[in-house]
Amino acid sequence: MPGKDGKEAAAGGLKLTGLTGGALDSNYFDLRWRVLREPWNQPRGSERDNLDATAFHLVIQTPEGKPVAIGRLHLNSPAEAQVRFMAVDPAWRNRGLGGRILRGLEDEARARRVARIVLNAREDASEFYLGHGYQVEGPGETLFDKVRHVRMRKNL
Ligand SMILES: CC(C)(COP(=O)(O)OP(=O)(O)OC[C@H]1O[C@@H](n2cnc3c(N)ncnc32)[C@H](O)[C@@H]1OP(=O)(O)O)[C@@H](O)C(=O)NCCC(=O)NCCS
Repeated sequence: MPGKDGKEAAAGGLKLTGLTGGALDSNYFDLRWRVLREPWNQPRGSERDNLDATAFHLVIQTPEGKPVAIGRLHLNSPAEAQVRFMAVDPAWRNRGLGGRILRGLEDEARARRVARIVLNAREDASEFYLGHGYQVEGPGETLFDKVRHVRMRKNL
């Protein structure tokens, strides 16, 4: 099994791939739905939005092609990118996969000469982003009347 370190994960046969909207399949959206929507009884389809087709997506897959970690980057303006829909399969957490996705999205933002990344973090995931150099800007939205978020930002 892969270890916490990303390099070990790579040695375990996991593959990191950048995708644009047209290449996304139902397995990708299934992971997003299971992690970010199903626990709050939200219907399938609620995990998608109209930026998926043009945004940049990263996915880590097992050798069998099963996605286990995903995340998305889109531009709010030429200077500002936003990270959304970070999701790691519960069985694969705390092995560095979320970090690999986030760093990969940041690399993409730098390649596009973006000055800053913003995101709305679930309160219970804010520590993860703090560990990657993001700062809390203030309270964010509350999703489904339950899931509280904080607005976070990182200057590149
Ligand atoms: C948040 C998430 C993407 C992190 O992915 P991951 O693969 O487990 O993270 P990594 O293994 O790269 O990083 C683990 C580190 O982040 C910390 N961390 C991860 N999730 C955390 C959480 N929910 N709360 C606090 N710390 C967390 C771990 O303590 C660990 O810190 P350490 O390296 O100092 O020990 C993943 O837990 C997840 O999918 N959570 C549910 C969905 C979610 O909240 N998505 C984010 C929406 S804003």
